[in-house]
This record gives sequence, structure tokens and C-alpha cells, in this order.
Amino acid sequence: MSTHLRHLITLQNMDASTIQHLLNRAESLREACAHGTRRIELLRGRTVLNLFFEPSTRTRTSFELAARRLGADVVNFDIAGSSTSKGETLLDTLHTLEAMHLDALIVRHRESGTPEFLVHHAASAVCVVNAGDGNHAHPTQGLLDALTIRQHRPNFNLLTVTICGDVLHSRVARSDVHALQALGARAIRLCGPRALLPDPSEFPGCTLHEDFDDAVEGSDVIIMLRLQKERMIATLLPDEAAYFERYGLTQERLRRSASGALVLHPGPINRGIEIASEVADGTQSRILEQVANGVFVRMAVLAELLAR
Ligand code: CP
Repeated sequence: MSTHLRHLITLQNMDASTIQHLLNRAESLREACAHGTRRIELLRGRTVLNLFFEPSTRTRTSFELAARRLGADVVNFDIAGSSTSKGETLLDTLHTLEAMHLDALIVRHRESGTPEFLVHHAASAVCVVNAGDGNHAHPTQGLLDALTIRQHRPNFNLLTVTICGDVLHSRVARSDVHALQALGARAIRLCGPRALLPDPSEFPGCTLHEDFDDAVEGSDVIIMLRLQKERMIATLLPDEAAYFERYGLTQERLRRSASGALVLHPGPINRGIEIASEVADGTQSRILEQVANGVFVRMAVLAELLAR
């Protein structure tokens, strides 16, 4: 691996060898677990704290499982029941938690830049892992998506990938693009209604599309995104039925893609809005494989950051 990771904040500017190294490590851990290994005591005596200011099912649970399977102690910080509700600031919360000798802080926050802010203000040797900040980055999702694709299509330079939905607000899209470009994906198409497409200057090397039927044509991988209404400051969309009509991934649209194209979605999925149930549950769906890979990718990241 070319650089030693101290924190994991973004995949932007991460080189291909570092990404491949993390994916290889995740794959080795997956194989060890498949052969019956229940716990690998790499992180015995280490403490990992989940600090989630936004809801999560997959990321929080898989970080907890990952840390426990590596032998670490895990604390799930209860934001609603914490002294943040009495006005304690983020920095005071950080320093209070640090005083209890944490080794890693897994942070999700609605504000882009919060994990980096914590890196700059952490007084101790705590490692910070970004579990999703605003629309900025979700690096472990980018890694687990890359791993899922690599398991089926190892030659990234042959791949056309379409990412469809609320790209504007999506930290997943940003981290996926950074990983896919580092790994050499041939073409990346970003698709959605004009109001949900980003400024093209933010995604050099990608093409932007408003017509999903065109964007899906010949694609090897289709990554569907949820409409993130919690990040929309005004109603940017027609009603959900009209959205599904134009941007929902149906079986009929899937037939326009390359034979056997992979269907991914970071979850949570909204059936009948961005994806039809028959596609989400169909033979080309890799959605539950993504979830399973999330545990191994997060084990790899924690092992990389924390193993002595
Ligand atoms: N993909 C993802 O981040 O899911 P959660 O919000 O459930 O963690």
C-alpha cells in the first residue's frame, strides 16, 4: 500500500493501489469468515465509538459487527439520550469522549466536513472514520460498492457505469465516482432530473444525462440512488409516480442495459419510487451482497487504521 491511512474521510485522491489493498483485505476477511472464523482478535483492547447524528441501519450495524468480529470493544453513542440535547457542543462532546480513551470514532453527520473538523480538533491519537457527511462523502460505501462490482466484473476498464437518481445530494455518488475513476472505469454516466444533477465541473470525466432510457443503454453496472428529501431545501421534483415513470429502474428499462448488468443500490430503497420491486429482488440485484460486503470492508478499514 502506498500510504499509511491515519483516518478515512474521503476516497477523493486515494490511489488505485490503496483502494485495491483495502478491497483485497476485505476479500481475505470474507474468505476467513466463510471458512468458519467467527472472531479475529486483531483489535483486542481497542475501543470503537459509533457517533451517528443521522439515522442508519446498514452503516452503523456493520461497523459494530466489524469491530466486534475484530475483538474490539464497541460503544454506540446514543445521540438522542446524550448531553448534546442539553446544548453540549460537538467539540466538547469530542473532548469528553476522547478523555475516555477511544481508539476510533465512526462519525455520521448531516453537515459536510464534520469528520474532517473532528480530525483537526482531536487532541489524541483517535482515528476518525467518515460514515457519511452531508452530500460530501461516504467512503466505506464507495469501497463496498467497488468490492461488489469487482467480485463480478474485475476489469474496471471495460465497464460503463450509470448512477441514477438524486446525484446532487448524494455522498454515495461522490464516493462511488472517486473509487470507480481511481480503478479505471471506462465510462461513468450520471443521470437524473435537471434539478438533481450536479454542476458538471464537480465531476470531471463523467457525462450527465436527463434521459434514463439513454443513460442505461449498454450499461454494465447501474447504481440507483434514493431521493434525499431531507437534504432538499425546496421541492425540486414532480410527484413520485411521475418520477418513477421517468427515472425508476423497471425490468423493461433494465433490458436496455448490457446482458447481465449488475444492479446496485446503497439503501435504504424506496420501492416504486426509484426502483421496482421485481428489479430490487431480481436475479441481477446485488443489493444484499452490498450489505454483506459492508461488514468485510469495514473490518478491513478498522484493521488498517487500528491494528498495531
Ligand atoms: N447505505 C447506507 O449508508 O445505509 P444506512 O443509512 O442504513 O447506513
